[in-house]
Amino acid sequence: MPPAPCSRLTATAAASAIDALLCYCRQGFEPELAGELTERAAQAGFVGYARAERNTGHVLFVCDEADALSHALPWSTLIFARQKLRLFADLTDLDPRDRIAPMLAALPADVRFGDLVMEHPDTDEGKPMAGPARSLGNALRPVLRKADALTKEANPRLQRLHVCLLEGNRALLATSEPEDSSPFPLGIPRLRTHADAPSRSAMKLEEALLVLLDERERTALLRDGQRAADLGAAPGGWTWVLARHGLRVQSVDNGPLRQNVLDTGLVEHLRADGFSWQPQQPLDWMVCDMVEQPRRVAERMATWLREGWCRHTIFNLKLPMKKRWQETQLCLDLFAQQSEKPLTIRAKQLYHDREEITVCATAFSSRSPR
Ligand SMILES: C[S@@+](CC[C@H](N)C(=O)[O-])C[C@H]1O[C@@H](n2cnc3c(N)ncnc32)[C@H](O)[C@@H]1O
Repeated sequence: MPPAPCSRLTATAAASAIDALLCYCRQGFEPELAGELTERAAQAGFVGYARAERNTGHVLFVCDEADALSHALPWSTLIFARQKLRLFADLTDLDPRDRIAPMLAALPADVRFGDLVMEHPDTDEGKPMAGPARSLGNALRPVLRKADALTKEANPRLQRLHVCLLEGNRALLATSEPEDSSPFPLGIPRLRTHADAPSRSAMKLEEALLVLLDERERTALLRDGQRAADLGAAPGGWTWVLARHGLRVQSVDNGPLRQNVLDTGLVEHLRADGFSWQPQQPLDWMVCDMVEQPRRVAERMATWLREGWCRHTIFNLKLPMKKRWQETQLCLDLFAQQSEKPLTIRAKQLYHDREEITVCATAFSSRSPR
């Protein structure tokens, strides 16, 4: 349920009610997220406008029908949004000695939240707000509980309340629906770093499996004995992740793989060109992290699905410096058209992605569990 109108909102200079979506993104990708929200909102028939400031790590999309718009743009379908929230108040000129009273006043009436999420922009300027946000949360939580605005224990079925501390004297108040938002604060999954992972890239694939598949899909689609190819595999981070799930992997790269990856006994290293190599029998998975022009990668990935060489794929598209939203659309359109099959396509710029996005696609077939 979206929040009720802010009937507790008092007309003070410090509080302005606002109907908007608040989305977090990678710092520097605000124009891409603004472009995506603007275009997707227009396609869905909504009137509104994006408010984006470069390097702030977030974008507002202001719309009188923000609740309906939020339903029309599910979080899982937004590529550049790490998180999607429903913004209802922008509190400015907060007195650091009492930031809680204006927050209480701005809360919607008669709503009990299932959790309180304290946040700050994931930017160079925003990171110093992490400590103050935590302290404010520790003070705010008991006050909300006393006011019956927050459950005693976290309740994952109820809306969450998000407080994003932009500066010491400015906070955004927003809500999220558990089934239509990232479950992680700031939309950033905290993954364990493994000392034996051959590369930092391993975390990209781990995050992709966590964010782009749900639990049922992970169990059904990543099983012992399944077969995969990893194109552009060296030094072996993605191969290592797949092998840890019990998959047998053909790892294609002229570069060397780490010995601990080969020692799994599940990996065959093939020194070949990832753009021309093809498997001798259909595989369950193909993953690809080759650094190449995104259109070329999108076309090659489409060939794999069209020819039935794999059923599922996860690949990265490295984005150019300019017109990144346009290039993203172009590549995804190209990929969908050239695969010539009904596909489920999910794409996101993950936290561990840099100037790139990650795409997960599955071709439907009579054998497909999805
Ligand atoms: C970003 S690295 C991959 C890192 C890897 N995913 C990991 O987790 O360790 C990109 C790799 O793609 C390989 N590559 C680039 N073009 C290729 C091609 N045409 N065929 C095979 N490998 C290629 C490079 O040799 C490089 O090792």
